[in-house]
Amino acid sequence: MKVLIVGGGGREHAIALAVSRSSRCEKLYCAPGNAGIASLAECVPIGAMEFDKIVDFSKEKGIDLVIVGMDDPLVGGLVDELEKAGIRAFGPRKNAAILEGSKAFSKDLMKKYGIPTAAYENFDDPEKALEYLRTQAKFPIVLKADGLALGKGVLICEDLAAAEDGVREIMQDKKFGTAGNRMVIEEFMTGREVSVLTFVDGKTVRIMSSAQDHKRAGDGDTGLNTGGMGNFSPSPFYTKEIDEFCRKNIFQPTVDAMAAEGRPFHGVIFFGLMLTQGGPKVLEYNARFGDPEAQVVLPRLENDILDVCDACIDGTLDKIDLKFSDKAAVCVVLASDGYPVKYEKGFPIRGLDAFDGKEDVFCFHAGTKFDSEGRIVTNGGRVLGITALGDDLKEARRKAYEATEWVDFDNKYMRHDIGKAIDEA
Ligand code: AMP
Ligand code: GLY
Repeated sequence: MKVLIVGGGGREHAIALAVSRSSRCEKLYCAPGNAGIASLAECVPIGAMEFDKIVDFSKEKGIDLVIVGMDDPLVGGLVDELEKAGIRAFGPRKNAAILEGSKAFSKDLMKKYGIPTAAYENFDDPEKALEYLRTQAKFPIVLKADGLALGKGVLICEDLAAAEDGVREIMQDKKFGTAGNRMVIEEFMTGREVSVLTFVDGKTVRIMSSAQDHKRAGDGDTGLNTGGMGNFSPSPFYTKEIDEFCRKNIFQPTVDAMAAEGRPFHGVIFFGLMLTQGGPKVLEYNARFGDPEAQVVLPRLENDILDVCDACIDGTLDKIDLKFSDKAAVCVVLASDGYPVKYEKGFPIRGLDAFDGKEDVFCFHAGTKFDSEGRIVTNGGRVLGITALGDDLKEARRKAYEATEWVDFDNKYMRHDIGKAIDEA
């Protein structure tokens, strides 16, 4: 098979590694890819939102399967465009990717089908939102821009003044662009957060693994929200009992609800959950692999990923016996100091060879590129994701932190407490 992956971050590097291990893959392309993906795939300079170019390229090269890794092209309808041109694609169509693309949609879906989540109201008029906050809200309260905002469109407001500022930022100043045309105001929940990645074929859902993310930039969960500074998998807090509850009350009901709405979901649903006193509740849905969740889950997948993609597209996931190694994994993100606000890039990265040929330690490239002299240089806020596998989480964490020392670049920054919660388990 000739396969094209759309995207160019650490997640797409992890997908590329999984596809490159498939005996069915004869040629792998990635658009646009990055300097690390280039060791596994031919990278082509086409952006993930350049739908016409992606369709033309796929036709020209006779691509058998396009795997769309990123949220923006999924929500924008890339899978629909590919299918119209007769090209097979892995990922939800536009009418299903809305599960991630509109928080107001996902909240209404959960309410309609009785899927546990925080209480909420949707607003498209800032005056009505302000009125609600002044008369009915309990603080702290959570404001969410409706649309995609790089994981940054969520504000937790301690009091009315902060919430009023938040409404202004989201709906009036349009800090997150059109994502703020609508807004969800929801109840603040407390508890431990767990992510669960699943494959879905329109009706059947198969669990990959649980993981725990570290979204804040600084140690001790301080600083701004980021795309994710590291994570571990599986989560020891995601017990068998919780898993049973979620399968019955959250995962299958979500898949069934989408089918009932005439929006069958094919692809990956990433459930962001909070384990509250009142049981597990949905924080958010993502319509794709997480980044860096893919980096701790896919290296443990024992099936041929192309078989699983086919089953998700064809509705035959019930025939797939999904298998993961019983290893644990920890990923530590090496970022550019200053991320997620302001940072310099273009610094040469030293020591990457140390990862060559390793079976249990991986260096996934997130923001890297080749400079004019052919050196690999930093090219983003998140630069590398160092993943290690171990017999247990503690071993994986020790190996991951050890490997973070193998590479170096100017302004290298990381959190030093990824997986701290493992000690509390
Ligand atoms: P989301 O993008 O919706 O997952 O929100 C980003 C982060 O904001 C989550 O990972 C939580 O840490 C936090 N968050 C979102 N919704 C709530 C909520 N209702 N209560 C408490 N924290 C929340
Ligand atoms: N790591 C969180 C996300 O991919 O949305």
